[in-house]
Amino acid sequence: MTMIAPGQTIGILGDGQLGRMMALAAAELGYKTHVFGQDPNSPAAQVSTAVTIAQYTDEDALRKFASSVDVVTLEFENIPTATLDFLEAIVPVRPGKKVLEITQDRHLEKSFLNSLGVPTAPFANVESLEDLRAGIARIGTPAILKTRRFGYDGKGQVKINAATEIDEAWEEIGEQPAILEGFVPFELEISVIVARGINGDIQSYIPVENKHKNHILDITLAPADILISISEHAVKLAHKIADQIDLVGLMAVEMFVTRDDDVLVNELAPRPHNSGHWTIEGCTASQFKQSIRAAAGLPLASAERHSNAVMRNLIGDDINHWNDILCHPEMSLHLYGKAEAREGRKMGHVTRLFPLGTAPKV
Ligand SMILES: Nc1ncnc2c1ncn2[C@@H]1O[C@H](COP(=O)(O)OP(=O)(O)O)[C@@H](O)[C@H]1O
Ligand SMILES: [Mg+2]
Repeated sequence: MTMIAPGQTIGILGDGQLGRMMALAAAELGYKTHVFGQDPNSPAAQVSTAVTIAQYTDEDALRKFASSVDVVTLEFENIPTATLDFLEAIVPVRPGKKVLEITQDRHLEKSFLNSLGVPTAPFANVESLEDLRAGIARIGTPAILKTRRFGYDGKGQVKINAATEIDEAWEEIGEQPAILEGFVPFELEISVIVARGINGDIQSYIPVENKHKNHILDITLAPADILISISEHAVKLAHKIADQIDLVGLMAVEMFVTRDDDVLVNELAPRPHNSGHWTIEGCTASQFKQSIRAAAGLPLASAERHSNAVMRNLIGDDINHWNDILCHPEMSLHLYGKAEAREGRKMGHVTRLFPLGTAPKV
């Protein structure tokens, strides 16, 4: 069945804060949720109707999970393709296998983007030290070497400033399949979050600016302070990617804006994204609601914003300030229910709205 009506159950693969906010949005639309994850007290498990704790290779658990839900969506793109095949034989999975295969692998992803005429940093596939030497000879330095798979928050990447650092870099990323990228001296980093429904209808949120600290997203400013022409161009690129990858769901498109006003796509994430958390307060429908609508085969809501916003992540010990934040009535505090505030761990976020036409400030 293509449309999953309220009252039915949405399965969510992954159990972190994104899954938690997806489950909350699903509940607001009258759905039940069933989370497939690894921790019975995870952020998503705490707010879901049902939970399965199992590995992605556990076919018994997958079969039971798939039979108990009406559609499967995800908060995490690194689901093994064998798991997706297994689930898709029983229940619709949205977004589907093709989208995940491409976005799990940085080399497939950038090759796909270039095949659409979407510009990226120059890149080379690296499977050996020789490939890396050849890549550096072609692309030059500085460059960034990234593992093809499983990287996040800057993990699995190393900057190469000079050819003398090649051997060390190859060792540092664990001598595994990688991609070498030319270093882009960007002016700013932006992202566009786009939702595409089962009938191909598209809604996208305004491009936002993302500022990182220690390779982790620190602040999102909505909207990004860029020329309207660049903003429109970025949105067009995101729509083209969503159409061409045949997305049914929600996808974040991370981009670099260069000094010459070029827009290069850096990364795709086929799920709600940290840079879209502001949409909970700032828009008619949040990225989480939109992702649930798309997965359920419902019409999409408007992605129009009614306010500008700034979103700040609460990382590790930042969470200790929850009390102070609550003393600011203009701030919306979100906590993810994680028991332990480890360094670099996303514990929550804070959003502050600004009237349209005024610049969002930290
Ligand atoms: N080719 C590049 N040139 C310049 N900076 C880069 C490049 N690739 C990544 N970065 C920086 O590193 C950050 C993390 O890289 P990214 O590819 O988005 O991986 P992930 O977010 O999965 O860790 C980016 O947000 C950007 O700040
Ligand atoms: Mg990224």
